[in-house]
Amino acid sequence: MYDLAVFTDWLAFAVRWLHVITAMAWIGASFYFIALDLMLKPADDLPEGATGEEWEVHGGGFYNTVKYNVAPARLPEHLTWHKWQSYWTWLSGAALLMLVYWGGAEMFLIDYDKIELSAFQAILISGGSLAIGWVLYDFLCKSPLGDRPTLLMLLLFVILVVMAWGYNQVFTGRAALLHLGAFTATIMTANVFFIIMPNQRIVVKDLKEGRVPDAKYGKIAKLRSTHNNYLTLPVIFLMLSNHYPLSFATDYSWIIASLVFLLGVLIRHYFNSMHSGKGRPHWTWGASAVIFVIIMWLSSAPMFRDYDWQAEVVVPDALEYVTASADFDDVRNTVLGRCSMCHNAEPVWPGVNWPPRDVRLDDDAQIALNARSIYLHSGLSNAMPPGNITGMTDEERIQIIRWYRGLNRDIAAAD
Ligand code: HEC
Repeated sequence: MYDLAVFTDWLAFAVRWLHVITAMAWIGASFYFIALDLMLKPADDLPEGATGEEWEVHGGGFYNTVKYNVAPARLPEHLTWHKWQSYWTWLSGAALLMLVYWGGAEMFLIDYDKIELSAFQAILISGGSLAIGWVLYDFLCKSPLGDRPTLLMLLLFVILVVMAWGYNQVFTGRAALLHLGAFTATIMTANVFFIIMPNQRIVVKDLKEGRVPDAKYGKIAKLRSTHNNYLTLPVIFLMLSNHYPLSFATDYSWIIASLVFLLGVLIRHYFNSMHSGKGRPHWTWGASAVIFVIIMWLSSAPMFRDYDWQAEVVVPDALEYVTASADFDDVRNTVLGRCSMCHNAEPVWPGVNWPPRDVRLDDDAQIALNARSIYLHSGLSNAMPPGNITGMTDEERIQIIRWYRGLNRDIAAAD
């Protein structure tokens, strides 16, 4: 069993590595082409059918790129397609989702405080929601709304907000944000696979057979790639969110996730304007900063935890001081009762073979050493225990907050 655990842990790492690499390649290429497209300029000596050109310098040479919109008069011998970066990003992401969230459904997907799903039900919701998301999105794009891009975009935003809320009703906070990212990213890759590539193939076929390709294919692809453009940054945020419990494991996580989509649009708007020579809308940075501050505030806004949230937080470092502190006995009991079955030199929780993330919470010194993490992961947020699998109560969380903040006040007073 131990060896299987070693294998799956490394397999997850390898797949994650692949996922990050392919995502970088995809996003890099897509940002590059978006910028290039916006920077194209007219010129007198362009070849027939060309709509613009751009000169660039990179890596010791000069590049002169010419764009033909919709297509050149004659098809060149050699044509490079950009599609596998996108497909591999989705495939490796799906594999990772299955490894982490389906394989570890009890630990990472199901939140027993919300709905007591079986692993099978949770996996069904996970996979099914991603598929349904695409079908719904594609239907809307192909409906008359496709001719009203702004209205369509607003409607998509509403759907994303509903999904952010909905995922948070059924899954752990961590899985909810990740699924929202996967939901969005699935739409993006499906746009490439089901729409952009097939249309491009029709254009190529038309050219080969001597027909003039219909301009509508360019227009359809443009709508879909505009969506992909604006969705990229939020997806990256959502994928990274699982490292930051304040983003995914507080009461307003679904609102935070929704606001991140606005951030993505604002930031992309700045770069799109800049690249197309329409100036630099600096206000987008101001607006982004305001939204970010709102996000920070929301993550610590009191909801069900009745506590004074204004106290200053300083990291304690004196271990003896921590263990001698008021409330420590109670906190120790909580941690030993709710955490140490997993966070132990020799965990007793089935399937946990070593202290997760090397965090041990099995004696006083370790508890003191990890005071800040305990506060962040199980006081301020409910990231731990995963899915509240060991049934931590709100009172216990409040106590951890009170204890940790008390430490800091005492240290501040001693200084
Ligand atoms: C059922 C087993 C289990 C229990 C109970 C549990 N944890 Fe964890 N904990 C994990 C796992 C698994 C991870 C690794 C999560 C990951 O891969 O991101 C983890 C990670 C952590 C981390 C490190 C997170 C990071 O970002 O590196 C901290 C801190 C932590 N837990 C604290 C706690 C505290 C405090 C409690 C009790 C209130 C607790 N855990 C209860 C399984 C558990």
